[in-house]
Amino acid sequence: MYRDKGCGEVEEADIGKILTLSGWVFRRRDHGGLIFIDLRDRSGIFQVVFSPDVSGDAHELAHSLRAEYVIQVKGEVRRRPEGTENPDIPTGNIEMYVSELTVLSKAEPLPFMLDEPKEVSESLRLKYRYLDLRRPEMLRNLQMRHRVTKLIRDFLDSRGFLEIETPMLTKSTPEGARDYLVPSRVNPGHFYALPQSPQLFKQILMVSGVERYFQIVKCFRDEDLRADRQPEFTQIDMEMSFVETDDVIAVVEEMLYYAFKEALGVEIDIPMQRLTFREAMERYGTDKPDLRFGLELVEMEDLAKEGNFKVFLNSLEEGGRVKAICGKGLAGLSRKEIDLLTEEAQSYGAKGLAWIKIKDGFESPITKFFPQGVLEEMARRLGAEEGDMMLFVADKEDVVLDVLGRLRLSIAKRQDLIKDGFRFVWIVDYPLLEWDDEEDRFQAMHHPFTSPKEEDIPKMLKGDIEDKELLASLKAKAYDIVLNGYEIGGGSIRIHRPDLQKRMFEILRISEDEAQMKFGFLLNALRFGAPPHGGIALGLDRLIMLMIGEDSIRDVIAFPKTQKAVCLLSGAPSPVEEKQLKELHIRLDI
Ligand code: AMO
Ligand code: AMP
Repeated sequence: MYRDKGCGEVEEADIGKILTLSGWVFRRRDHGGLIFIDLRDRSGIFQVVFSPDVSGDAHELAHSLRAEYVIQVKGEVRRRPEGTENPDIPTGNIEMYVSELTVLSKAEPLPFMLDEPKEVSESLRLKYRYLDLRRPEMLRNLQMRHRVTKLIRDFLDSRGFLEIETPMLTKSTPEGARDYLVPSRVNPGHFYALPQSPQLFKQILMVSGVERYFQIVKCFRDEDLRADRQPEFTQIDMEMSFVETDDVIAVVEEMLYYAFKEALGVEIDIPMQRLTFREAMERYGTDKPDLRFGLELVEMEDLAKEGNFKVFLNSLEEGGRVKAICGKGLAGLSRKEIDLLTEEAQSYGAKGLAWIKIKDGFESPITKFFPQGVLEEMARRLGAEEGDMMLFVADKEDVVLDVLGRLRLSIAKRQDLIKDGFRFVWIVDYPLLEWDDEEDRFQAMHHPFTSPKEEDIPKMLKGDIEDKELLASLKAKAYDIVLNGYEIGGGSIRIHRPDLQKRMFEILRISEDEAQMKFGFLLNALRFGAPPHGGIALGLDRLIMLMIGEDSIRDVIAFPKTQKAVCLLSGAPSPVEEKQLKELHIRLDI
């Protein structure tokens, strides 16, 4: 028997008992006669003491212990002498006097100390991930991930959802990233694609009559990586039959309410706020707004027209827009700091940044272009007060919204305006299509199986598919869920009519042959009685990251990859042997 209980499970009721414990040497302090060890296992930390008065042998051996040795100790649990308690840990009032010590496993000197995470580069942490994961906070992250996943499974099970696995070796799916390909040895020249999502299979399961499907599933996307993006990540993937948008939204809200309540003890507000895509863009400059603070984007077009600042007027004349945000508390910025802020706006794509300080009146090189009443109205609209600075961008609409949206975030961070808490918002009424300049054609904004809104179906079926304006005006039954500025999920009601799906491909300029080759199996299935259906997928990694308060999904994934999609622990990807390539009929051209 290695142990009676976990280190963190020893309690005051054990005082006087002889217990056996096993674990890692976390910290070691040699106080002359006594040697103190913080013994750690998954359950927590417990202090054990080696004294020559209790066991000369154990005390002697304890001199050789180093960080992360795995040991077994046996001894009496005692109350710590008064004044030596440690209120920071649950076992801080008790300790063990060791009578027997066994070294189960030695450890070489560590590449980094486990109690100084901040000092360590992430690449070192990833290379020695097994050490990194020993840190209590990383273990806590894995435990939270396990807990939330289980709560979600239980919830969906209670609502009649079936968890069904779908293939990993499959065909390309249309989520818009590059595929990871897997060559087929027995079918030379043929490749599987790892799924970007189970999208097509879950729709087929609806045609099969499953009605409620879910899967906690790995998805693979070869795309540029960021702190909230991994090449393989996990979705809580769901699909339901005979539902409309409100049904899907209601299930997801109840699921999240349950998970937050049970895992964190937090009661989130449901029903959640909803914003249309248009409104989100106009007010926050993004479709994943962080609603934990204000600083909304404000219309300035009409006021710009009442002045004669050429930069604004020229932009408007060219069909552009002028909007502004309030730089809360920024009136004290020096010229140099304003230049830096301008450079920041330029790095987001702006041509410049116009500013007006409110500091005993209005102060700016451009106040002279506006009557006093207009300046006052600008300040009123922005809610800008003494000590603030109004910031304006004039440009094409997408530039204005994007630049101000990013400045809004960056100013909120800089001025510490972001409140704690969980602010969810649904973004609804997305456009069905978005124009792709590079490809000179429309792309599906969500994916090509997303249904248009009911009122747009006749337009889509009968309208002219060369009419860009008409196509751009079509709205989708698509929805995203956003938490604290992160897109944590997205989904849609699907097209279940073959004629509408065919039309969608025509609009996207996907030929019948191509559609048949790529998605033929779904198109065929739709011909045999497909129920109305829809669903959503939540990014599990992002959800857990936000629940825990981390800022990278790598911290909630046991074995994540780097920005360059490399696993530093295993060394994947790596070259393979010539023989393997030959079997796959592959010759390298590098
Ligand atoms: P979508 O592509 O919006 O929808 O993906 C759903 C959610 O998955 C998360 N996510 C990611 N998380 C980490 N790393 C990535 N590379 C990554 N890519 C996406 C996001 C996102 O909101 N089949 C559809 C869903 C549907 O229509 O039902 C889909 O995959 O949180
Ligand atoms: P200029 O007339 O180019 O000297 O610019 C006067 C002020 O307007 C400077 O503060 C510029 O940063 C700013 N500015 C220039 N272009 C724009 C723009 N497109 N939107 C907002 N401000 C701008």
